[in-house]
Amino acid sequence: MSPEAPPRKDLTAVKGTHDIRPGEVELWQKVESAARGLFELYGYRELRAPVIEPTELFEKGTGETTDIVTKEMYTFVDKGGRSITLRPEYTPSVVRAIIEHRLDLKPEPLRFYYFGPMFRYDKPQKGRYRQFHQIDIEVFNEKDPAIDAEIIEMASALLAGLGVGDAETLVNSVGCRACRPGYSAALRNHAEGIRDELCADCRRKIETNPLRIFDCKVESCRVETARFPKITDSLCEECRTHFAQVRTLLDLYGLPYRVDPSLVRGLDYYTKTTFEIVSRGLGAQSALLGGGRYDDMMRDFGGPDICGIGFAMGLERLISVLDITPEPRRLLYFAWLGESGRTKAVEFARFFRRGGVASLVEFNQKNLRSQFARANKLAASWVCVVGEDEIARGRFQLKDMAAGTQIEGTPEELLDLIRRKPADPA
Ligand code: HAM
Repeated sequence: MSPEAPPRKDLTAVKGTHDIRPGEVELWQKVESAARGLFELYGYRELRAPVIEPTELFEKGTGETTDIVTKEMYTFVDKGGRSITLRPEYTPSVVRAIIEHRLDLKPEPLRFYYFGPMFRYDKPQKGRYRQFHQIDIEVFNEKDPAIDAEIIEMASALLAGLGVGDAETLVNSVGCRACRPGYSAALRNHAEGIRDELCADCRRKIETNPLRIFDCKVESCRVETARFPKITDSLCEECRTHFAQVRTLLDLYGLPYRVDPSLVRGLDYYTKTTFEIVSRGLGAQSALLGGGRYDDMMRDFGGPDICGIGFAMGLERLISVLDITPEPRRLLYFAWLGESGRTKAVEFARFFRRGGVASLVEFNQKNLRSQFARANKLAASWVCVVGEDEIARGRFQLKDMAAGTQIEGTPEELLDLIRRKPADPA
């Protein structure tokens, strides 16, 4: 394709997916490295699970009445006749991995983190994609409300460290298997009374799972859900105490939050605490992250009877609210002259890379002038000239592109100089 040809319209990324290109990816790397560093400080370890899983993992884990399972999964039958799903979320995968490898029998704390792509077939819009990326953390076998508060504090610390200023924390309790059926019955009764005001999908949810009406995105249904009975008025003693302790601990951390009784979250597995951190800067898709407790999932899958809690943060949404300029990369560009210059430049580039300096030799350049022009275009920090004269003398010119200064030395001296006195970005 010639540089003048218009881009082909038929050869584009699948709708709702996108490329993360150089220039953007540096911010992703920065966020991932900040998250990794923080999670390790809190005693978490990385667990990488496959992108494809058996479909039943999500049907059973995420829940059969959720929007994710009823409408949004990328599911296909593979050549072996198995139903496979591109994971829409990560939580059930971690539960499967723990059961499969009996990680619960290991001495290490069951605290895991993960970064990776998730897939949901929803209507794409700003902040909502069909392939998106999550940072996910999960903790198991910790019943104490202290862990609920600690993971909210950890999420807040990550956001604060990245300079996210306008975030608001919402918390709720969705009860447990003892108290939720009573609440669901009350909700069903209420919803039955206003059936005609609800959309067709929500009318169906009255029978299947009235809690899921809270997930509806239709404006008239949202108006109705604001008048629904509050789950916080139906909690059993244990759930009420747990929720009160979570809030006391958040107060101890000095973390502001708002109790939002409509925060049931769009997944069936939650018990007790649910929470979200939202940002006004995000518009309609305002949740930067969401999570909660899921004390029954492991047992429901036939695993050990241990509780779980976690959250997932949407990386696209997080990155869209960040106001960080990643540090420009520092690059040493080798400008070579003649065949021997080219060979030496290759040798030196290896030497400097081993010394930790990003170095580039390009082989498609005609002369020194074009190589200096390239170095300028690439915003290289330094250019090192390697020609026959320099090779004969064993001393080379290093040009600091921002300062416009030039210094001569052996490769060892120049490496030492770069390491001791980094150049200003060009
Ligand atoms: P979720 O609320 O479905 O929870 O997703 C978590 C976060 O992922 C959202 O707050 C949002 O930032 C991002 N997200 C979700 N869907 C999309 C999308 N279509 N496009 C862009 N970003 C999106 C979960 O996934 C649970 N597994 C969280 C959890 C972990 N609960 C317990 N442990």
